[in-house]
Amino acid sequence: MPFNGPKTVEMFRKAQEVMPAGVTSNFRYWDEDETPVISRGKGPYIWDMDGNRYIDYRLAFGPVILGHAHPEVNKAVAEAIENGVLFAATHPLEIELAEKIIQITGVEMVRYANSGSEATMHALRIARGYTGREKIIKFEGQYHGMYDYMLYSTAGSKLEKIGPRENPTPYPQSLGMPKCTEDLLILLPFNDKELLDKALKKHGEEVAAIIVEPMLGNVASIMPEPGWLEFLRQKCDEYGIVLIFDEVKTGFRIAPGGAQEYFGVKADLVTYAKSMGNGFPVAAIGGKKEIMTHVRYGEIAHGGTYTGNMVATSAALATLKILETGEPYRRLEEVGKALMAGIDQILTDEGIPHVMTGVPSMFGIVFTDKGAPKDLREYLVTNTDTYESIAMKLIEKGVMPDPDGREPWFLTSALSQEDVAFTLARFEEAVKEFKQGR
Ligand SMILES: Cc1ncc(COP(=O)(O)O)c(C=O)c1O
Repeated sequence: MPFNGPKTVEMFRKAQEVMPAGVTSNFRYWDEDETPVISRGKGPYIWDMDGNRYIDYRLAFGPVILGHAHPEVNKAVAEAIENGVLFAATHPLEIELAEKIIQITGVEMVRYANSGSEATMHALRIARGYTGREKIIKFEGQYHGMYDYMLYSTAGSKLEKIGPRENPTPYPQSLGMPKCTEDLLILLPFNDKELLDKALKKHGEEVAAIIVEPMLGNVASIMPEPGWLEFLRQKCDEYGIVLIFDEVKTGFRIAPGGAQEYFGVKADLVTYAKSMGNGFPVAAIGGKKEIMTHVRYGEIAHGGTYTGNMVATSAALATLKILETGEPYRRLEEVGKALMAGIDQILTDEGIPHVMTGVPSMFGIVFTDKGAPKDLREYLVTNTDTYESIAMKLIEKGVMPDPDGREPWFLTSALSQEDVAFTLARFEEAVKEFKQGR
């Protein structure tokens, strides 16, 4: 049922005249009648063009961890830009931020980027430059950015397109991708030690990097099985492969030190973005000194006109200073646990088979009677239509998770217990209506 009001509909019509599909990222298009047009945000809420308020569980696909328009972060940016925005030269704020990232995460050196895509793209180059090898191991369902090397078999894949489990076919997610990029990839299912071991026995000496989202932040927050990340670490050491944790979604969100801290496994290179800047465009590549010191003129190239700009670095520094107090994590744990438990209870009471996946600050709801999926292939045979129907009803009622269940529910520390209670009440209504076929 279309639920956009007249002003939103009119604004979306205008948008379609000047931007393909009316959006500036394909991921933001829902459909003709339901694609949101948002006018503003504050704390945990956003408002559409018709003034309808939504509790925001998308948070722009994760970044807005402290809530929209956070006063301290905004103030820090406003003050910083009084002294200029960009110098193409090292600046004290860049250094202070790098020291903060190092202190919080345990990486040894840092370079900046402007987006997650840019950060992972550079991390792959660094791994290739450091090892002198070309192939990259990537796991199905993982998304590392919009560039050609990595845009294969991401969460948007159809089961029939990705080939047999034992020998996955790289599935390009866009027209226009050069075929030759396929040859640089080895695609494997997540959480499968046996297939990884087999691939390494064959290709181990050619592999520059294994890049992995430590939990499947683009497939309903599917968790790594116990020992999986440790296995990746061990195999990378054995074959001289660079282990890259893509922490664009998990970094500074699931723990101050991200997945490295949460799961207790250290990578060689780590990419950060999203929660690092509370919505401001900032990203970083962190890593071991031994590798990162090769990023220099004449060796491994890294650059960007806007890297380390004042808007990005001041926003990130202000965000990390608030996060490092620990208070936002206590809050995320509290409200996240209450929300997960409440949703679980409602679905159990209504007799709808499901599993809750992920962690309180980014969790998924998967409709299945087969237990938690462990990879993209298992997710794709769950009941994704049920998720979408319930999510759409929720959005009509002022609670906005992404309608695509692969996208986790992202929580902000600005969320109150009242917001949780509101969400659960709407969730219960939505589930009951769904069951009645309304
Ligand atoms: C794990 C992961 N890596 C990389 C990216 C790309 O980040 P960006 O959209 O900032 O380019 C994303 C985006 O969602 C992501 O989830």
